[in-house]
Amino acid sequence: MPEINIAVVPVAGLGTRLLPATKSQPKEMLPVGRKPVVQYVVEELTRVGMKRILFITGPGKTSIENHFDLNLELIQNLRETGKEELLAEFEFERAPAQYFYTRQRQLLGLGHAVLCAQPFVGNQPFVVALGDSIIGVNAQSDIVRRMTRLFCERNAAAVVAFEEVPRSEVHHYGIAKPKDGGDVFEVEDLIEKPSVEEAPSHLAIAARYVLAPTIFDALARTRPGKGGEIQLTDAIRALLSNGGQVYGMVLRGEERRFDIGNFDSYFRAFVEFALADEKYGAALREFVEQLINGHPA
Ligand code: UTP
Repeated sequence: MPEINIAVVPVAGLGTRLLPATKSQPKEMLPVGRKPVVQYVVEELTRVGMKRILFITGPGKTSIENHFDLNLELIQNLRETGKEELLAEFEFERAPAQYFYTRQRQLLGLGHAVLCAQPFVGNQPFVVALGDSIIGVNAQSDIVRRMTRLFCERNAAAVVAFEEVPRSEVHHYGIAKPKDGGDVFEVEDLIEKPSVEEAPSHLAIAARYVLAPTIFDALARTRPGKGGEIQLTDAIRALLSNGGQVYGMVLRGEERRFDIGNFDSYFRAFVEFALADEKYGAALREFVEQLINGHPA
């Protein structure tokens, strides 16, 4: 099987749960610590060998395209004003990857966003990485490499990343019904946003997928599901009903998923990344401790 090196990054969503912050800027460009969310996602992908990155964008998302461009004027300005040390901040621009963009012209859900990648991807397996989710503090995760390996070894139809979530949170996610146990398991079924009673496990889909191109046919046949959206989860279920094998891979402890889709988890992610910052983390920790203990900072 050829190397899997195309990653599709859907970033077209409206981010309504983060209004007003997302009124005129994409949620994927919100900073977590020093970098915008989508930069962590792309760094994770290029580190594990993704060479072509296709963003599925929409109106109001041009700042994402600008972010991955070379900004020669800014570089020149930093050189002329003696701020060469800041050039290191542009290392990510030099990753050996090419960036592509296409528009999702109607917001019909994540499944539909992935279907927009079909003319680009063609007939080969590919990765999907949600543009609003970081895996691990500072995105130090090679889950995508482990998933693509498993995909090839098992000749799978799909490999999906999962994270163990508290029982009370299962209704926010697509949840696995595993056939067997362990950190790598065969998926028997997936249930989109089940109630606590309906949930067959606490394993929630965690923003990374490796998919065979047969997913495109499945998506084209998928009718709108929960929330009136074309759900990627429903199309993966169709792969299962057609006899395809779908595997789950559980994120390791240090690979927690940071979902930047709502304020609760966005605030937590920001605080955790800022506290881990090499330069500012220690002083911030002191400040936060004083704040919490009620002493003036
Ligand atoms: P979400 O469902 O969290 O995104 O999709 P959203 O629609 O922006 O969020 P809310 O509910 O309005 O707050 C997860 C990922 O899928 C992308 C989003 O950009 C996000 O990265 N997405 C979602 C699309 O690209 N297109 C869609 O139609 C829906």
